[in-house]
Amino acid sequence: MSKVQGKAWDGKLFKRVFSYTKPYRKILYGALVCTLILSVLSPLRVELIKRMVTDFIVNSDIPGLTLFAIIVFVALIFETILQFFDAYLANILGQYVIKDLRVELFAHITKLRLKFFDKNPIGMLVTRAVSDMETISQIFSQGLISIIGDILKLIGVLAFMFWTNWQLTLFVLIPIPILLIATNIFKKAIKKSFQDVRTSVSSLNTFVQERITGMALVKVFGREEREAKAFAEINERHKKANIRSIWAYSIFFPVVEILSALSLGLLVVYILLQVNKPGVSFGKLAGDMTAFILYINMLYRPIRMLADRFNTLQMGMVGSERVFKILDTDEVIENKGTATDLSFDGKIDFKEVSFAYEAPNYVLKNLNFTVNEGETVAFIGATGAGKTSIINLLGRFYEYQKGSITIDGVDLSDIELKTLRQNIAVVLQDVFLYSDSIYNNITLGNDEITKEEVIAAAKLVGAHDFISNLPNGYDFNVKERGGLLSVGQRQLIAFIRAYVYQPKILILDEATSSIDTESELLIQNAIEKLTKGRTSIVIAHRLSTIRNADKIIVLEKGEIIEVGSHNELILLEDGAYRKLYEYQLEGKE
Ligand SMILES: Nc1ncnc2c1ncn2[C@@H]1O[C@H](COP(=O)(O)OP(=O)(O)OP(=O)(O)O)[C@@H](O)[C@H]1O
Ligand SMILES: [Mg+2]
Repeated sequence: MSKVQGKAWDGKLFKRVFSYTKPYRKILYGALVCTLILSVLSPLRVELIKRMVTDFIVNSDIPGLTLFAIIVFVALIFETILQFFDAYLANILGQYVIKDLRVELFAHITKLRLKFFDKNPIGMLVTRAVSDMETISQIFSQGLISIIGDILKLIGVLAFMFWTNWQLTLFVLIPIPILLIATNIFKKAIKKSFQDVRTSVSSLNTFVQERITGMALVKVFGREEREAKAFAEINERHKKANIRSIWAYSIFFPVVEILSALSLGLLVVYILLQVNKPGVSFGKLAGDMTAFILYINMLYRPIRMLADRFNTLQMGMVGSERVFKILDTDEVIENKGTATDLSFDGKIDFKEVSFAYEAPNYVLKNLNFTVNEGETVAFIGATGAGKTSIINLLGRFYEYQKGSITIDGVDLSDIELKTLRQNIAVVLQDVFLYSDSIYNNITLGNDEITKEEVIAAAKLVGAHDFISNLPNGYDFNVKERGGLLSVGQRQLIAFIRAYVYQPKILILDEATSSIDTESELLIQNAIEKLTKGRTSIVIAHRLSTIRNADKIIVLEKGEIIEVGSHNELILLEDGAYRKLYEYQLEGKE
């Protein structure tokens, strides 16, 4: 995609932004019509005022003056009403467009594969969906339509000025080249400082977000003072960037005022030069003077605003380019599979499967294993051995490079993705809970799951007691990421969540080995109940949880080194499982 930053104008990009106004063309046309009428109406009003002077005031024609005063007044009211609609329509157009765009962006982000999120930080994506969108809305509210309006107004005013008195027009326009130069300098200065402001706002966001999320870390390592200092530095940059833009405005606006005063001065000079010339009508001169005082004001205002508006427009274009870049990412897991009528109660087969998150760093190497119908297979192995990676493949969260995985004999990629994921429930290693009630965290908004089912599942898992004891029970809000619950409790909630969906295949990735004995017993019980009669894969850190598994697979650096039941593996002299088992037993004593 082409870069906007370097270029003043990118037609293709603009067309694309503009395509989002399609459903709202009426609003767009409404705003444009208002703009158009306004750009003619304002100079026309001046013309009326001029007439008041030349035709009525000079001739002391009171009835005529009164009539014209009423007409001007009505025109003014009409102008005000139009101005209201102009601003209103342009602003709501911007809001409609970004609403659609934001919804599209979010839906698109949710479709992207996990690998995309490994590479793109949360803060960046949040910025795209929130603040970049605001800049896009300003293309419509403060950028484009206003620019068209300002330019039309300029043309209109200039046309009326030349038509009224072209010599005088040329005379009072003498300071305009200086104004254009000043505007250009201002535009550049303001653009640079706006960019700096945006960068510093983004660092502020990231900093605050990260430190508040990791507040425990800040406290544990007593980093309060250092973090405060680092934060002060970012704020200093933010302040300086803002002050630079304040400077630019503070200089530019008075300069414009001086230049417009200069034009007014030139107007007076012209009148003085003309007033004594023979054959010059005093009435016409007075009328021209009145009109030009108003015209000069009308001329300078849009020029002054244009610099600002072009920046707004350009920032909006940069914002939209960033948003489109995400919309154009097609990093999705291919969904070419058509099989939807699978019963999912057959066996799961891994044949010579190799997988790397980033080739060629293979984290799983030539895996061969089978999980038979209704069986519970447990994986154990050191941290980083590749246990979680196996379930990442089975749920097609990542794609493997070699070998084949089949369920009921059907290749994983031939199964329709949604069907696959509906039938496999995964309890992830780091349990994620939304800032919501326990109940909603279990059902995830699925209305088909009744409260009775949730309670029954909680009782089965053994979590009903602790949930009932919480204030408001199932309606207890667990706050961000379940911060108000213990690790073991969160794990139990995740179990209930998986259970109420009654999946055909269940995968449990045990969160942690560091859990108190009471919770350990609870979880051990829960796992036994959940996996009973269901094809299950359990990844365990505590061997106590998997003693009863039909098959235990020991993984080391992505390779299977031992397979067997507890009773078989425990007999292997020098076996990895046996060593681990003895080690954990010692730890208990
Ligand atoms: N998203 C990722 N991108 C790149 N590499 C990854 C990613 N996730 C894991 N890895 C790497 O893959 C390897 C296996 O990780 P995996 O999460 O499968 O280990 P694990 O056996 O589940 O460990 P643990 O017991 O700590 O949960 C590790 O070396 C890890 O660094
Ligand atoms: Mg893991």
